[in-house]
Amino acid sequence: MSGDHSYIEQLPRERTYLLPALHLVQEREGHLTPEALTAVGLHLKVANSELYGIARSYSELRVEPTTGTTVGVCTGLSCLLSGGRGLLQGVRGALADRGPEVVETTCRFRCAEAPVVAVGDGYVVAATVDRVAAAVGSGIMPVERPTPPAAPGEVRRVLARCAPSTGPSRASGGTLGRGVLDPASLASARAAGSYEGLATARELSPEAVTALVVAAGLRGRGGAYFPTGRKWETARTYPGPRYLVVNAEEGEPGVFKDRHLLENDPHLVVEGLLIAAHSIEARQVYVYVNGEAGVAGRRLEEALTAAKEAGLAGDVVIEIRRGAGGYVCGEESVILSSIEGERAVPRLRPPLPVEAGLWGQPTVINNVETLANLPLILREGVEAFRSVGTESHPGTKVLCLSGAIARPGVYEVPLGTPLRRVLYDIGGGPRAGRDPSTGSGRSLRAVLCGGPSGGLLPPSQFDTPLLGGSLDLGGAALGAGGIVVIDDTMSIAAVVHHLAAYNAAESCGKCTPCREGTPRMRDLLTSLRDGSATADAIALLDALDQAMASASLCGLGQMAPLPYRSARTHFLKELRG
Ligand SMILES: Cc1cc2nc3c(=O)[nH]c(=O)nc-3n(C[C@H](O)[C@H](O)[C@H](O)COP(=O)(O)O)c2cc1C
Ligand code: SF4
Ligand code: FES
Repeated sequence: MSGDHSYIEQLPRERTYLLPALHLVQEREGHLTPEALTAVGLHLKVANSELYGIARSYSELRVEPTTGTTVGVCTGLSCLLSGGRGLLQGVRGALADRGPEVVETTCRFRCAEAPVVAVGDGYVVAATVDRVAAAVGSGIMPVERPTPPAAPGEVRRVLARCAPSTGPSRASGGTLGRGVLDPASLASARAAGSYEGLATARELSPEAVTALVVAAGLRGRGGAYFPTGRKWETARTYPGPRYLVVNAEEGEPGVFKDRHLLENDPHLVVEGLLIAAHSIEARQVYVYVNGEAGVAGRRLEEALTAAKEAGLAGDVVIEIRRGAGGYVCGEESVILSSIEGERAVPRLRPPLPVEAGLWGQPTVINNVETLANLPLILREGVEAFRSVGTESHPGTKVLCLSGAIARPGVYEVPLGTPLRRVLYDIGGGPRAGRDPSTGSGRSLRAVLCGGPSGGLLPPSQFDTPLLGGSLDLGGAALGAGGIVVIDDTMSIAAVVHHLAAYNAAESCGKCTPCREGTPRMRDLLTSLRDGSATADAIALLDALDQAMASASLCGLGQMAPLPYRSARTHFLKELRG
C-alpha cells in the first residue's frame, strides 16, 4: 500500500469526480484506506464523515481490506436452475485446501451460460467443478457474450451485426468473435452502415429528429416503455444546458442485453447517443456503465475514442462513468446522484429528471437498447421501423432467455410476439431432463418475466403477447426483457422466496415501506417455503404487498411484491405448500 496519494490529483477538483476517485483508489490500493479517503476528501472538498456514507452506499466499494482471491459461485435464479447449489458445494470441497475463498454471488449477467463461476476477472461458464479448479490455477480472461444463430420468428435489427457464435467455446476459450462486424474496428462498423443515421440526423433540425422519433413510436427499452420522443419533447421545453445520460448500468439479474450490445456492436450505441444528443441539443453526455461490465466498458471506451478521433462526436463531450452498486443503481435518479458525487440512493419525485436532473438542469436518461434503435429509424425511416411490432408498441425487443430452456441466449423479436413462440420456436422448449430415471425433457412450470420485481406466468398464460406494461393480472411485466424459465427442479415457493430475499438484500433502506417490508416479506415466504407458516401468512403478505406497492419511494420497493402477487394469483396451492 502506498502512502503517496498524489495520483488522485490527476482528476479535476470537482465533486462529480468523486466516484471515479473512489474507483481509482480501490484499483490502486485494493480497498478504500482511511488515508486515501482523506486525500480524496481534501482534493474534492468533501467532508470525511460524508465520504464514508457515500462509499458505503455502493456495494462494490470496499472500506475493509479483502482477503485475496475469491471464487464466486453464482447462486442467482438461472444458475440455481442449472445446478448452481450443487456446484457451490462441489467447488467448496475441491478448493478446500487450495486457498481461495469460495463465496456465493448474485447474478453475474451470463445467465444464458449457466452455471457461472467468477474467478479473478474472468468467468467459467457452463461450469463444472473440474473446470473451476483448473481455472483457479491458470486464470481466465473475460470475453464477450456469445450471440446464438438466428432462430425462426426472430427479427434481428439491433442484434443484426453481432457475429453469431459457433458455440460455448467462443465464450470460454478466449477467442474474439469475428463475423458480421468487428466490434473493435470503426472501419468495420462504417462498412456495415454505422453513422449513416447520424449523418441523416445532422441534416435535419433537432426538432425534426424529435418529431421523427415521436412518429416512430419508439418506447424506452429500460423497462418502463415510456415514449422516447415524448420524453425528449418535454426536456426540450426547459431551457438548457441539457444533459443526456445513457443508462448502461444493467444491474437486474437475468438481463444481459445491454452488455451484449456494447460488447458486440458498440458503435451502434455511440451512434444512437449522438443522434439523441443532437435531438435534445445536449453538449454533455454521460454513459453510466456497470462497474463490473469489463468487456462492455472497454469496447465502449475504444469505440468512443475512435468516434471522437474521426470527428464524429463534433462538439459533444462524452464521459464514461463506472457504477459500483447493485440493482437500485440502475434507477435513473440514483444515476443522477452518483454522477453528482452523492450517495447511491433514489431521489424524491417530482421534479422529474427531464425538468430538473443533473445539477438542476433538464436531463434525458435513456437505456442502451433504446438508443440502439435510433440509427435504424434515421437510416431506414419511420415506416420501416413500424413495420414490425404492434401499433402501440412498434419495433423489436431484445430478450434474455435463461433458466430451464433448451436454447438460452439473447434473441430479438417483434413486440407483441406470443411468449409461447419465444419459449418453443426460439428457445427450443424445456431443456432435456438430467434426471436419469426419466431421461426426457422436463415440464415447464412457470416463466419469470420482468426480473426480481417481475411476475410468474403459468403455462396457461403462455399465449400472452410480449408488450411493455403489465402482461397479466398477477403483475408479470416484460420489463427489460429478462425471461427466466422455471421447470420442476425448483418449487414455486422456493423461487418466490429467492426473489424476495434478493429484493430485501438490495433495498437501499431510504424509505420505510421497502426497508421494513422487503425483509418481512422474505421472512413470511421463508415460513411458507419451509411449511412453518401461520394461518394468517397470506393475509399478512397481502397487506405488505399493498403497503409497499403504494408507499415505496422508488420502483424497487413498489414492484418488489410482484413475484409474490403473481404466485398468489396463479400458484396459490403451491405457495401454501
Ligand atoms: C430498481 C430499478 C432498477 C433499474 N435498472 C435499470 C437499468 O439497469 N437499466 C435501465 O436502462 N433502466 C433501469 N431502470 C429504469 C430507469 O429508471 C429508467 O426508467 C430508464 O433508464 C429510462 O430509459 P428508457 O426510457 O430508454 O427505458 C431501473 C429502474 C428501477 C426502479
Ligand atoms: S423503495 Fe427501497 S430501494 Fe427504493 S428508495 Fe425505498 S428503500 Fe430504497
Ligand atoms: S449469471 Fe447466474 S443467475 Fe445470472
